[in-house]
Amino acid sequence: MTKGWSKSDWRSKPRVQMPDYPDAAALQAVEAQLAQYPPLVFAGEARRLKAELGAAARGESFLLQGGDCAESFAEFNADAIRDTFKVLLQMAVVLTFGAKVPVVKVGRMAGQFAKPRSAAAETVGGVELPSYRGDIVNGFGFTPEARIADPQRMLQAYTQAAASLNLLRAFSTGGFADIHRVHQWTLGFAESDKAERYRALSERISDALDFMTAAGVNADTSAALAQVEFYTSHEALLLEYEEALCRIDSTSGKPVAGSGHMIWIGDRTRQPDGAHVEFARGVLNPIGLKCGPSLTADDLKTLIAKLNPENEPGRLTLIARFGADQVGEHLPRLIRAVREEGAEVVWSCDPMHGNTIKAASGFKTRPFDAVLREVRSFFAVHKAEGTIPGGVHFEMTGKDVTECTGGVRAVGDEDLSARYHTACDPRLNASQALELAFLVAEELSDRRATLGARAV
Ligand code: PEP
Ligand code: CO
Repeated sequence: MTKGWSKSDWRSKPRVQMPDYPDAAALQAVEAQLAQYPPLVFAGEARRLKAELGAAARGESFLLQGGDCAESFAEFNADAIRDTFKVLLQMAVVLTFGAKVPVVKVGRMAGQFAKPRSAAAETVGGVELPSYRGDIVNGFGFTPEARIADPQRMLQAYTQAAASLNLLRAFSTGGFADIHRVHQWTLGFAESDKAERYRALSERISDALDFMTAAGVNADTSAALAQVEFYTSHEALLLEYEEALCRIDSTSGKPVAGSGHMIWIGDRTRQPDGAHVEFARGVLNPIGLKCGPSLTADDLKTLIAKLNPENEPGRLTLIARFGADQVGEHLPRLIRAVREEGAEVVWSCDPMHGNTIKAASGFKTRPFDAVLREVRSFFAVHKAEGTIPGGVHFEMTGKDVTECTGGVRAVGDEDLSARYHTACDPRLNASQALELAFLVAEELSDRRATLGARAV
């Protein structure tokens, strides 16, 4: 892909948001060990995802990306993986129905361990310690020992990612993902008292499935109804880990990040001459780029040229995360920059990271209404600009947590303390995530009408 690129070139570039490992020999030993391990994903899968995202850029499919803000070692168990996967599948069915195109399903799972932080240190009761940077780096506990960056954690993250991916692959093809089962779960939600607004759409999906069954198309006759393609993604923040899992694709001879199907560059690490961009530009995987309010049009153009010099469809997904009140100001100028470059990108909306507030109770939260408002503005701006809203990106969990406020089973400020489990940012719970999918499906029905009218 990139002539003269090597997987360790990032080391000579300025790096931010990465830990200093006190024990260099221990770090090297772990890197050497990881470099021997099998990659977690196969390059052919990353190439297939890229082709599917190419379709999303053209409005012929739609990207659903979601999962934890930060995966944790302590909360690692089969139920947690199953529950998040289950909600993603439910959301995908609802979105497919709204969009009438395939939904590309990508989890923030099986590798989403490293976190950028707003401050390098945290002070509690007059004591200052290095910030927690995700379980792959250091411990959440507020003790000097826990906060030391420990390379052994990379091995545990690898093992957890491998086990998660194994279960996800089994769920994807082993009968769990049968569309009738998935929709049955959704009926349970839509039949609850407060969700009546979603009942009509849910019943239309039931009718469509009943019709197909009557016509002889069911999970026994059609693999498309019995199985799903599911991909993994994470922020490629900890570059020692990424480098150690980088491999050469035997088919194309190009480097591939073996840590997950898609990797993204965070809003804090997207410096055009920085280490993270340097690493990402050389691997063949689909790349996400978080776009926040401080991204200039010039930087975006430079980043597009570096990350996708051949303008390959599906290579680059721009993940807009401005905040509900700022989308209208920033998205149009960046859409124009992309247009000026003639660049083919997937535009995705992350309505989480620009809408974090501190509740009166002191908890970090995100109001459901602000999340929804950002999604709606994102669709409205694309409609006005004549461009394609290609996907959504959520922080969510299948568990019934109380981290974001609002939704039909209204979580209030006073409820946040009940089940606030996140190690980092507040996530949508299962009900909020599914509700949002219904609301995005309404936007997608409109997108379908708009794209149909444009095609005529
Ligand atoms: C994230 O996706 O968890 C994240 C930190 O996002 P951003 O880089 O957009 O702030
Ligand atoms: Co986050």
